[in-house]
Amino acid sequence: MKKIAFVLILAMVASFSFAQNFIGIAMPETHVQRWVKDGNTLKAAAEKRGYTAEVQWANADQPTQNGQIQSFLTKKAKALIVGCINDGVGAVIREAARDKVIVIAYDRLIMKSADYDYYITFNNYKVGQLQGQSIETALDLKKATAAAPKQITLFAGSPTDNNAFFFFDGAMSILNPYITKGVLKVVGPYPKTSADKANFQRIATENWQAPIAKTRMENLLSNDAKAVTLDAVLAPNDTLARAIIEACKADAKYRGKLPVVTGQDAEFDSMISIKNGEQTSTVFKDTSKLADAAVLLADQVLKKQKVAIPGAVLASGSLKEIGNTGSKVVITYLLDPVLITKQNLKVPVDAGFYTAQQATQITR
Ligand code: BGC
Repeated sequence: MKKIAFVLILAMVASFSFAQNFIGIAMPETHVQRWVKDGNTLKAAAEKRGYTAEVQWANADQPTQNGQIQSFLTKKAKALIVGCINDGVGAVIREAARDKVIVIAYDRLIMKSADYDYYITFNNYKVGQLQGQSIETALDLKKATAAAPKQITLFAGSPTDNNAFFFFDGAMSILNPYITKGVLKVVGPYPKTSADKANFQRIATENWQAPIAKTRMENLLSNDAKAVTLDAVLAPNDTLARAIIEACKADAKYRGKLPVVTGQDAEFDSMISIKNGEQTSTVFKDTSKLADAAVLLADQVLKKQKVAIPGAVLASGSLKEIGNTGSKVVITYLLDPVLITKQNLKVPVDAGFYTAQQATQITR
């Protein structure tokens, strides 16, 4: 009898402490490599700080993610770290707020919601600027002439992901002056900024799906870009960059010389592509640091401590816009992205971003 009571008490204590310290981690997808690592790093970081943690990936399907978040709430999570798919997550974020659960929007802002307070991400506008600068340098646009203009085509990320607008607008802030001068010509749709919704939609890639970008590139090559040779493609991330490069490689015109193609995420496959002279650049966002910072943020808020995140800055001035959900401006912390080309492939390697085996493949 005594033994049963003891076991019962143990079980109660266990479930109580589980609820006391449980962090639910909701990641959007696995078809973009980074999120697998993000989820695992977040879980490890939470456990290191003494929390119980569970991570779920939602296959780019918001109803699936909402179900996962709901199950975290049923398990009495104290905090949620959410990389959302689209604003359809708002309904469960509202439930979390009602249960007084701390919600941290992770990397992607949860749009149209006023039911949470914190967002941690990279300076996404700067990510785009770095992509634009990489094209500016690789094509030597400062010396380009209207008599022999360079040709570019534009791709953007998912229109359901608020980051996609910042990436695009950052890149266009660098490229637009050259387009206006006539030394850079856009082949295909040309939204000057993401505010041109109709044209942005034409260059956007629903849910960041590589096959969509590949098909669009193939169509461009056999239609709008048939009569020209493209010098550059603005690609918003590595997954899409590699799909675009694949399409170009199938076109005889580009067999000798691929266009300049940008990217983002420093994915291993793209690092190898850059090393081999195919993809031109990527943007390194140290997501291990982002994950640590997100867990520290959750920890400090849960413990009602003053928030201080080493390596991140509190967005102020015009950068506050990065945290504007449309219903509220949330407190936003920003980390710094770094442009990677063939010249500095070692930067993410030295930051410990890859497995030992991957690191050797990149640097040997
Ligand atoms: C992230 C990128 C990622 C993209 C596709 C964006 O929200 O910031 O790093 O490449 O989603 O998953």
